[in-house]
Amino acid sequence: ALYGTARENSLGLDLTDPQVLAPVAKRMDEVAATKWHGKPSVGGALKDGTAREVRDPADHSRVIGTVTDATPELATQALERATRAFPAWDATHAADRAALLERTADLYEQNMAELCAICVREAGKIMADAVAEVREAVDFLRYYAYRARIDFAGPEVMPGPTGERDEYWLAGRGTFLCISPWNFPLAIFTGQISAALAAGNCVLAKPAEQTPLVAARAVELMHEAGIPGDVLHLLPGDGAAIGGALIPDPRVSGVCFTGSVPTAHIINKALAEREGAIVPLIAETGGQNAMIVDSTALTEQVVVDLCQSAFQSAGQRCSAARVLFVQEDVAKRTLGMLAGAMKELKVGDPSDLSTDIGPVIDAEAKENLEAHIARMEKEAKLIARAPSTAQMEKGTFVAPVAFEIDSLDRLTQEVFGPVLHVVRYKAEKIDQVMDAINGTGYGLTMGLHTRIDTEVEWMRRRAGAGNLYVNRNMIGAVVGVQPFGGEGLSGTGPKAGGPRYLSRFACERVISINT
Ligand code: NAD
Ligand code: ALA
Repeated sequence: ALYGTARENSLGLDLTDPQVLAPVAKRMDEVAATKWHGKPSVGGALKDGTAREVRDPADHSRVIGTVTDATPELATQALERATRAFPAWDATHAADRAALLERTADLYEQNMAELCAICVREAGKIMADAVAEVREAVDFLRYYAYRARIDFAGPEVMPGPTGERDEYWLAGRGTFLCISPWNFPLAIFTGQISAALAAGNCVLAKPAEQTPLVAARAVELMHEAGIPGDVLHLLPGDGAAIGGALIPDPRVSGVCFTGSVPTAHIINKALAEREGAIVPLIAETGGQNAMIVDSTALTEQVVVDLCQSAFQSAGQRCSAARVLFVQEDVAKRTLGMLAGAMKELKVGDPSDLSTDIGPVIDAEAKENLEAHIARMEKEAKLIARAPSTAQMEKGTFVAPVAFEIDSLDRLTQEVFGPVLHVVRYKAEKIDQVMDAINGTGYGLTMGLHTRIDTEVEWMRRRAGAGNLYVNRNMIGAVVGVQPFGGEGLSGTGPKAGGPRYLSRFACERVISINT
């Protein structure tokens, strides 16, 4: 029952089929012409206020909509309503909550083109990533519905002594604050919320400042599916302001956070310093993810997997490959082929199906990346850079680039964009390579390309990372197939899309009855 198979992931859309593509492209055009308005949703009512513009990261002259940010006072009102709604929601049968999540999944699929279009325009996702985004969101909804039916089925009778009945079950904790990032503005947003709801909690959802519009549409669909307005509230706005109002409040029964390590530390500290109940923080953060390539690896495969792992989604994935360790005997061949492949990458308008790399999220991200690249240009050797295009002038683009560095020590923090760092290693130093990777303190993803089985076993034993990938790319974990999440600086666990995720959102209870 823990891993059961009676469940299927979403099929998504096959964009290579012209019959599938034509209606999607038409809907995309209609949606592109629409102005979106995101508003806080408290108790099911949309709240007005001063609106700010949301611009397309691929073309900053294009205003795609507006958003009204929630004030701290509104956030507190939402918490009050959620606190009142919790007992009744927690008392619903898990199967009824699961059915609401499944209805939401159906609505997401029915509105797939629209959701994809918002992801393209608001988050700069290329079409293939946008489809994958909606699919992952649908998969989270259905997977947590499926898990809720198992985990929250009701009391499990434990083997106790004669004359006593011992029962164990899971119950909701109260109100969860779900704080999500812009790089998976629908999938992670939906994953956090659906897990918390499935476990019987009420939710205050705080999307990233950069991507409130897809979040607003998602919450609209969740409410349309029947999730009560007092159970799920949407609070777009500034992280520090909303977090600052809610996290110290003892009525917040848990925080589910995905984002950067510094923000995770701020939240962790705020929870530790507050009075009242001690509550869980589920934090999924960044990585300093490495791929190791030994001399037996198939170079063509390495280069395809590396380009996907380092540059897809403009490198804005926590799972992305940041460092390639290549054994020196094959370095020349591998890097030569990598440089050739990078010259073929097309950076441009994400709504164009031939685009490989879209924009980075905003001007601040671009500035940070450019500062890092400028440093690398002084300290490291340029391997290759993807060609620039005219579209890059219009938005916040960074062309994929690869540098050779002498040591991993050159990287002191996560570089969240399409920048790959390469370190050559000698075969006899492979243990030091693993020590250096583990020594970063991060532990999210790691890749290995080898055709030696014992190397795979070596990696399994030695790697301090949550998700290991062998002879393939190292991104795009699939819900219910590759439960995802890291260790150390990369997060607290449990793994999203995995069999133990929901229990972290719940209280465990036991009753022992003398019969
Ligand atoms: P971020 O930490 O800046 O923001 C994430 C969220 O936290 C946003 O909603 C933001 O508004 C909110 N926030 C900011 N300050 C806050 C505060 N003081 N209190 C409460 N909330 C606050 O991260 P980001 O730039 O949006 O996202 C990119 C980061 O996310 C990268 O480090 C990436 O590796 C990580 N990430 C991790 C995973 C994973 O599953 N491990 C997945 C995606 C992204
Ligand atoms: N789950 C996402 C991936 O694996 C972050 O790329």
